[in-house]
Amino acid sequence: GRAAALIPAAGSGTRLGRGPKAFVEVAGRSLLARSVAALAPLVDEVLVALPEGQDLPPGVPARAITGGATRQESVRRLLRATSAEVVLVHDAARPFLPSRVVHALLEAIPETGAATAALPVADTLVRGEAGRWGGLVPREGLWAVQTPQGFRRELLLRAHEAAHAGGFGATDDAGLVAWLGGEVVLVPGDARLFKVTTPGDLALAHAVASLWDA
Ligand code: CTP
Ligand code: MG
Repeated sequence: GRAAALIPAAGSGTRLGRGPKAFVEVAGRSLLARSVAALAPLVDEVLVALPEGQDLPPGVPARAITGGATRQESVRRLLRATSAEVVLVHDAARPFLPSRVVHALLEAIPETGAATAALPVADTLVRGEAGRWGGLVPREGLWAVQTPQGFRRELLLRAHEAAHAGGFGATDDAGLVAWLGGEVVLVPGDARLFKVTTPGDLALAHAVASLWDA
């Protein structure tokens, strides 16, 4: 069956403070161009959701649509714009995507129809209560969820339409499938898949790019 990469890239990048984040460059290449380049060789089509009024930069091998007011709405629009059997949803803001992770996802999707990259949590976790150490949260069994996430398209579309109708919001797509009662397989992610969110992350991205591009 056909596979499509769906890339939500319609955010405004408020926390980074450099304008629409997908167009921010790291070592001469935008976050969006990097994410598209990682996925294009591995799928049949790449679809990108952009902020209203923005065009795809030249040389980015993808088809663009206009995103929505939230990430969830951007992904819902992307889902409606493809008929691929399998979709890989990946944040434009995660520019360093090892192909190994994509292959692992494609292998895992048939198990339950939904899979995500994730990493075991390494830090000590504590609940903050009014700025003070509240209570320890045992990190055993806890995973930090990344993208890409892979789905049978009809399953993810069903989850999105149900969430939309019910006013349910989640920060990622696997969360919507789990909310609908679906089983989500966890596959090993990668530290380099961190999301560029803050200026500190952008500095880290420059360091990673010097190794990645070498
Ligand atoms: N995204 C999107 N449509 C939106 C909001 C976000 O497609 N309405 C995308 C972003 O472009 C990004 C991914 O979802 O690739 C993850 O979102 P986030 O890191 O929060 O990016 P922004 O929303 O742009 O950043 P901020 O929240 O700081 O404004
Ligand atoms: Mg955001």
